[in-house]
Amino acid sequence: MTATTLFVNAAEVVTCAGPPRARRGAEQADAVVRRGVGVAVGADGRILAVAPDADLRAAHPAAAHADCAGGVLTPGFVDSHTHAIFGRARYEEQELRAAGVGYLEIARRGGGIHSSVRDLRQRSADDLAVLAAARLRRLAAHGTTTIEVKSGYGLSLEAELTTLRVIRRLAAELPVRLVPTFLGAHEVPLEYREVPRTRAEYLDVVVEEMIPAVAREGLARFCDVFCEPGVYTVDETRRILTAARGAGMALKLHADELENGAAAELAAELGATSADHLAAISEPGIAALAQAGTVATLLPGTMLFLGRSRQAPARALLAAGVPVALASDFNPGTSPTVNFPLVLTLGVSQLRLSVGEALVAATVNGAAAVGLAGEIGQLAPGFRADLALFDVGDHREIPYWYGDHRCLRTWVDGRPAHGG
Ligand code: NIG
Ligand code: FE
Repeated sequence: MTATTLFVNAAEVVTCAGPPRARRGAEQADAVVRRGVGVAVGADGRILAVAPDADLRAAHPAAAHADCAGGVLTPGFVDSHTHAIFGRARYEEQELRAAGVGYLEIARRGGGIHSSVRDLRQRSADDLAVLAAARLRRLAAHGTTTIEVKSGYGLSLEAELTTLRVIRRLAAELPVRLVPTFLGAHEVPLEYREVPRTRAEYLDVVVEEMIPAVAREGLARFCDVFCEPGVYTVDETRRILTAARGAGMALKLHADELENGAAAELAAELGATSADHLAAISEPGIAALAQAGTVATLLPGTMLFLGRSRQAPARALLAAGVPVALASDFNPGTSPTVNFPLVLTLGVSQLRLSVGEALVAATVNGAAAVGLAGEIGQLAPGFRADLALFDVGDHREIPYWYGDHRCLRTWVDGRPAHGG
């Protein structure tokens, strides 16, 4: 096949080329950085070759050129954990936390997730779509080309379905890949905490009404649960995720985020694709994830924004052979950042990843965390041409200029997505 576009004149191409699956241990350390090469893309939006620029020019004389102008080309980032469908921002909670009111205490007072739920239920699908589209474009502007998006601020059958339908609509409208996740068990809604209703009834609604309805419309690829002491127990989570798996969804968990509750062990037991957060994971939890091959998705921006000093034990996870992914956790309560390169910075400075480990975490392992490691996450023949170009001369500058905006352009399936 002949190429339609050649990406040439890059100072470096970070390919992450290798097996189409999550990378662990020493494998995760090598992001495969090449100099003097370009990327040839065919009319089908897939990569044909990564080879010296001169060879590509000679082999494909009719192809258009995308001039990388001495920048660094990477696989587009795969942000495998976001809560991007919400209404208003929750900036007032920052000061409450600074004054010593904890995240779960804010929730107990009816703030936190509950405040986003009240707000979302009052909005139309159009309103939510407009707000989310602007936010997803901001994520995309920082080099992200695939975004997992969770529901979870509806917490009623109608509001959860509305959220997931908004995600489906935006997936068709925006030049970015979206992966939908059903998170009806993000919290127990307030109306099920008072007589005559009980939390057990809400669980029945999730299992008997929401999961079948979501599956019937094919609205979610994953089901996630906030499994945490004070939110959903391990037994409740097991019931929900077992039902979701039976309905054809793959599984994710918010696991051991703030306090250890053996949620990582449950993720392993259920064969979840990923276990996310893990700041409070135990040694047996680490061993269980390693054994199961579950991806550990770490979200260092969340702990930073919550003002917590404890981060997930990334080095222990890597040493045990657990594949590590990085994601933004973009949400209005605990991580309102759209800046994926900043997440890489935190991966290096807070989680003590090498730059190579962080880049693999943001690409191949993010792709594995959304079940797409055979399609995206690396620049190699046959993979989709999802690319990001940065205004730096060395890949190590991407996490170095922290908080900056160095992404110049992105492409999805070889077509301009941002900055084109
Ligand atoms: O991943 N932990 C639960 N869910 C989100 C926070 C959601 C919110 O506070 O609105 C998280 O941190
Ligand atoms: Fe989250």
